[in-house]
Amino acid sequence: MKGLVLSGGKGSRLRPLTYTRAKQLMPIANKPVLFYGIEALAAAGIRDIGIVVGDTREEIRAAVGDGSQWDVSVTYIEQDAPLGLAHAVLISEAFLANKPFVMYLGDNLLKTGITPFVEEFIRTRPAAQILLTRVPDPQMFGVAELADGQVVRLVEKPKEPKSDLALVGVYMFGPEVLESVKRITPSSRNELEITDAIQDLIDRGYVVRPHLVDGWWKDTGKLDDMLEANRLILETFDRRIDGTVDADSRVEGNVVVEAGAEIVGSVIRGPAIIGAHAKIDHAYVGPFTSIMNDVEIRGSEIEHSIVLEGSVLSDLANRVIDSLIGRNVRIYRQPVKPSAYRFMLGDNSEVGIRW
Ligand code: G1P
Repeated sequence: MKGLVLSGGKGSRLRPLTYTRAKQLMPIANKPVLFYGIEALAAAGIRDIGIVVGDTREEIRAAVGDGSQWDVSVTYIEQDAPLGLAHAVLISEAFLANKPFVMYLGDNLLKTGITPFVEEFIRTRPAAQILLTRVPDPQMFGVAELADGQVVRLVEKPKEPKSDLALVGVYMFGPEVLESVKRITPSSRNELEITDAIQDLIDRGYVVRPHLVDGWWKDTGKLDDMLEANRLILETFDRRIDGTVDADSRVEGNVVVEAGAEIVGSVIRGPAIIGAHAKIDHAYVGPFTSIMNDVEIRGSEIEHSIVLEGSVLSDLANRVIDSLIGRNVRIYRQPVKPSAYRFMLGDNSEVGIRW
C-alpha cells in the first residue's frame, strides 16, 4: 500500500504565523503536525509515501527530506493551485500506480494511529474505507449518512447536516477512486471534493466502508484546535528531565525538559514540554504548555499555550494563557511612565487583553 499525504494548504486561519511558516509544520508538543501523520503511516507499514505540496513546498522539503528519518521513501508531488483534495489524488495518478493507498490530510491527528484501520481495509478490501467521528458542528466537515451500517450519502459541509458523523481526514482507497476523481466537477468553493468522489464510488455501486473512530481526532487548522491537539498530545507524555533544574525550582507531573534547557527558580507544572536550550527563569509554566527551543520565559507566567523558537517573555504582570506565540517574538514589560501598551504586530495579528 502507498501513502499520500496532503500538505498543500495555506493555513489562512492561522495567520499571521502562516505567512512565515507552513501550517503543516506548526508544532504540536514541539513536533511539526505533519510528522505525526508520516509516523502513523510508517507505523502501519507504509513505506512509499507521496507528499502533495503547494506554496510551502521548500519548507516542507527541508523539514521532511527524503523520509529516511522514518525509514520511508518520500516522493514530492507538486500541486500548482489548491484545487481540492480530489485534485490532489488526480495529479498523483502516476505515483499511485494503480495501487491501493491511504490518503492522510497533513494537519490531522488521530490518537489511535491508523494501523488497525489499514489492516481492516486490507482484510476487507472495499473500494474505499472512510473514518467517521461524531462532532458538535458537522456543517464544518464532510458529513456521512448511514443506513444499516452502510454509507448511503456523503455531503461536503452541508448547511443542514443529516447526521453528526464527520469525515476524518484519513481515507483508504483502491485504484477505483481514480476514475471517480475524473468524473466529478468542482464544488461551489471551486474545488474537486474528495467527498464527491467517494459519493461517486457509491453511485457506481462500489462498497464504501465506514469506520467509527472512538479515540480523539483533531484537525489543527485553527488556534483553538492547535491548543487542544497540544493538550491531547502532552497528556500522553511521560516525565523526562534531560536539562538542568536548580534546587529552587519545582517540576511537577509529566514534564519533558529537553537537553540544554535550564530551569532556574521556577515552577513547571505538567503536562508540559520545555525545548532544548530554553531558559525558564523565575517563572511559572503551567499545564498544557509547549515551549520550543531557545525560548526565554523570565519573571512571567504562562499556561495552556504554545511558544515557538527564540521568543522571549519577560517581567509580564499578568499570566499569559490560551496563546500561540510565533518565532522570535518579544513581549516584555518596561517599568517607565506613562503606563501604556506599545505594539509592533504583523498583519492579521490578534491580541486579547483580559482583566
Ligand atoms: C476536508 C474535507 C472534509 C473533512 C475535513 C477533515 O475539509 O473536505 O470532508 O471532514 O477535511 O479535516 P477542509 O479541511 O478542506 O475544509
